[in-house]
Amino acid sequence: MKIALIGYGKMGNAIEEVAVAKGHEIVLKIDVQNAHEFTKENIAKADVAIEFTGPHSAYENVKKCIELGVPVVSGSTGWLDNWNEIEAACTAHNGCLVYSSNYSIGVNLFFEVNKQLAKLMEPYNEYDVTMVELHHTEKKDAPSGTAISLAEQILANIGRKNQWVNAPSLTPSDLVITSERIDPAPGTHTVTYSSPIDTIEIVHTAHTRKGFASGAVLAAEFANKKNGIFTMKEVLGL
Ligand SMILES: NC(=O)c1ccc[n+]([C@@H]2O[C@H](COP(=O)([O-])OP(=O)(O)OC[C@H]3O[C@@H](n4cnc5c(N)ncnc54)[C@H](O)[C@@H]3O)[C@@H](O)[C@H]2O)c1
Repeated sequence: MKIALIGYGKMGNAIEEVAVAKGHEIVLKIDVQNAHEFTKENIAKADVAIEFTGPHSAYENVKKCIELGVPVVSGSTGWLDNWNEIEAACTAHNGCLVYSSNYSIGVNLFFEVNKQLAKLMEPYNEYDVTMVELHHTEKKDAPSGTAISLAEQILANIGRKNQWVNAPSLTPSDLVITSERIDPAPGTHTVTYSSPIDTIEIVHTAHTRKGFASGAVLAAEFANKKNGIFTMKEVLGL
């Protein structure tokens, strides 16, 4: 498979390593200094584009891939305010987008555990649920996209929580997400249910970026020659 990398930073490099090891070919690498090479002619050389840039450029990059008819796998976080426009563009151009706030297979299994635990805890009002996410200091968005996904899964299942907040709060219906930025830090997400009697905690810790990169390459293999909008749930058949 021929792959275009949009964003050649930490993730772009990790994806290249995994993709080449699996026998794929990187036919285009776009970063800020050669953004002018992101043209219709160049992107057409790729079967799939993999976009890991950041919150400020993801929307334009993903939209451009869809408009130019190349399936796109995006991992950039912090840009989902524009999700409705992207959905509309994907429908209008019969495009293909895979989006996940976290491509790690382990995190996607963790999502399923999180949903299941929330369903179990729903009747037990004595447990308060909170979340902590820990990342390196270069991370630009807070809370992490993964923390937001976990929070939305909890809100969908725990009726006593109405919204997530990324600040201290004493309002019982707020789901508090604490963001910590420390170097060096692997990405860690902890969901805690605490009552006066006991605590139940689930934790996911990413040891390397390779987990995200492997999942993104798997998603690109899935997206090749498909139409529609997908998540890792479909890619992994969960
Ligand atoms: N979904 C996941 O599994 C997952 C995993 C890790 C990181 N991320 C997210 O992916 C994004 C990138 O992470 P990273 O660690 O590789 O960051 P990074 O800063 O190392 O790399 C981003 C690269 O994108 C480039 N870039 C910025 N704007 C661009 C533009 N308009 N066109 C082309 N390139 C551009 C930057 O120059 C940089 O090289 C972040 O949003 C991060 O939160 C997602």
